Amino acid sequence: MFARRTKLPLWLLKRPAQAELLRLPAQPVPLGQLDDPEFQQLIDHMMLTMDQANGIGLAAPQIGQSIRLAVIAHEVSGQSSDLVLINPTVTVVGTGAQTVEEGCLSIPGVYGPVPRPDRVKLTAFDRRGQRYQLSAQDLFARVIQHENDHLEGRLFIDRASSITHGRVPT
Ligand code: NI
Repeated sequence: MFARRTKLPLWLLKRPAQAELLRLPAQPVPLGQLDDPEFQQLIDHMMLTMDQANGIGLAAPQIGQSIRLAVIAHEVSGQSSDLVLINPTVTVVGTGAQTVEEGCLSIPGVYGPVPRPDRVKLTAFDRRGQRYQLSAQDLFARVIQHENDHLEGRLFIDRASSITHGRVPT
């Protein structure tokens, strides 16, 4: 079986030039840029790329753009369409935590159990520039934190207690 080519090339940690960008804290998106049709198209292409790669979240640094933008699959967010996170802020709620195996499209074939808080509050802007706030728990909260980490140049392997050969794509 051959995987279908993704819409945008995925940047990989194993490639040194791409690793450098994946490790960089990303820059805020100027909200004026949301009027740019190319920017809207970038969001659509990220959603397609995530879907074609069977991912449940994708952050802009993973397609070579060092900007604070990420998408999360609608199956995870429980919404009717994929969730767009622009300039997100994530706050931990409560003291609960869970350890669950994670993977990442930027580090194919690598997995590991990652402890994370199980409830967060997300504040972000949507693709129209509307500020929104939502509460998330369990897998949704985990993916929000995983993608927000990408925007800080942080990867799940930094937090994993060990590296395994599981098969949970994130
Ligand atoms: Ni990832």
